[in-house]
Order: sequence, then C-alpha cells, then structure tokens
Amino acid sequence: MSVTIKTPAEQDKMRIAGRLAANVLDMIGEYVKPGVSTEELDRICHKYIVEEIDAIPAPLNYRGFPKSICTSVNHVVCHGIPGERRLKHGDVVNIDITVIKDEFHGDTSRMFFVGKTGVLGERLARICYEGMWLGIEQIRAGARLGDIGTAVQTHIEKNRFSVVREYCGHGIGRGFHEDPQVLHYGLPNTGVELLEGMTITVEPMINAGKRHVKLLSDGWTVVTKDHSLSAQWEHTILVTRSGYEVLTLGAETR
Ligand code: MF3
Ligand code: CO
Ligand code: CO
Repeated sequence: MSVTIKTPAEQDKMRIAGRLAANVLDMIGEYVKPGVSTEELDRICHKYIVEEIDAIPAPLNYRGFPKSICTSVNHVVCHGIPGERRLKHGDVVNIDITVIKDEFHGDTSRMFFVGKTGVLGERLARICYEGMWLGIEQIRAGARLGDIGTAVQTHIEKNRFSVVREYCGHGIGRGFHEDPQVLHYGLPNTGVELLEGMTITVEPMINAGKRHVKLLSDGWTVVTKDHSLSAQWEHTILVTRSGYEVLTLGAETR
C-alpha cells in the first residue's frame, strides 16, 4: 500500500478515531490491578469499544489475531495476546488499542504499572516515553523519517537501553498499517519526506537488555531474546505544515 495524504474531511475522521482510541486507554487504567487477567482487560475494552463508542476493535481477526487488544507484559515486546495470565504486583504492561470509527483507524498504547513497580521498569517506561516524544517533535512537513528515528534512538541509547528494529511505526488511515514504515532508529536527513496531511504512528519498543527479539510459537507474541524488560508507547500523529497534531492524546497532559 502506498502513502496516503488525508483530505481535511479525512483528517477530521482521523481525529475522531484517535480520540476514541485514547478514551479506551483512559477507561481501562483503573482496571489494571493485581489479580486481573489480561483476558478480562480484553473483554472490558471490547465491550466499551463496541457498545459505548460504537467502533470496531481493529486487532480482532486482523491477520488471524484472536483478541480485541494487545497486552504485552514485562519481557513481552509487543502483540501479547490477552489470556488467563493474571497481573501481579510489580508487572509492567503495555496496552495497545486500535479502533476503527467511520472507516478510519486510531492507534495508541501506553505503559501501565501493576501495584508498585521496580525502579528499572519505571525508568525504562519513562525513557521510552521521552524517546517517543522526542521523535514526535521532529515531525513537520519537509522533515524526513530518519529525523524521527535518530531522535528516538539517540535518547534511548544515551540511557543505555536498546531499540527494537524488527517492528516499527506506520502510516495509518483507512488501512491499519499503511506506508511508510516509521523506524525508531536511523540517520538525520534520510528516508521518506513527510508531507502535510500524512498520518503516521510513532511507537518505539525499547529493551532494558539487548535489542534482539524472538517470536513465540503462537505466531504473535514477541519477546526479548534475553528476557529483559521491554516498554512501548504509541501515538497517532497528523503531519501539519508547521509541525504535528497528536490525534490520540486523551487524558495524557502534555
Ligand atoms: N496496534 C499494533 C500497532 O501498533 C498492531 C497490532 S496488530 C495485532 O501497530 F494484530 F496484533 F493486533
Ligand atoms: Co501502530
Ligand atoms: Co498499536
């Protein structure tokens, strides 16, 4: 699929889809407690998406994915499948929500802490969050994808964490994963030029240990090869002439 430029009317639909995806994360926060299973979190989100916001959970049946959200706990990098596992004190979990509203996708994820979390998990999540924002702040018409990648990578590696290379951000719109691929590493002034009206995600995955990952036999769950902790944050962004508009802000204040 090629890069699509959204018309003003399509941008409005992306704003709505983005805000709704953020609303799901705002809603689920209070349920992320010791003892809850990731399957229960999936059911709560599914019901909210379908019944409260009248949208479609994009992951469900996407290329055979069996659930409505992704829940990636501790050393799971991304695409964790909700299941019977119960969250326990000290777990760090990424919840990734993608909804389709009026044909357009909104895609966002955040880190949640279960009870009191260790300092490493908190620091990893914070550095990842900062890296995502440094990447986002590069965005404007005329900037290039490598500018985003290098901003993220520099911050993560300066803090002696590693950036996952096998998975990346993406264009988004009527399609869940459109072109271009948005790498979270790279070199300044290289790669595809950003144009006004493009919508992309920035969603760095970073590891406390080495960057290498392994795909489990379920065909979805991605884990760190060295079993170190992993973190991820994600926003959907509209490229504007003077900069960017974050479409998935929700209750996050920044
Ligand atoms: N939401 C993920 C992303 O940020 C993709 C999940 S695909 C799924 O691109 F099938 F695992 F849901
Ligand atoms: Co995404
Ligand atoms: Co996502």
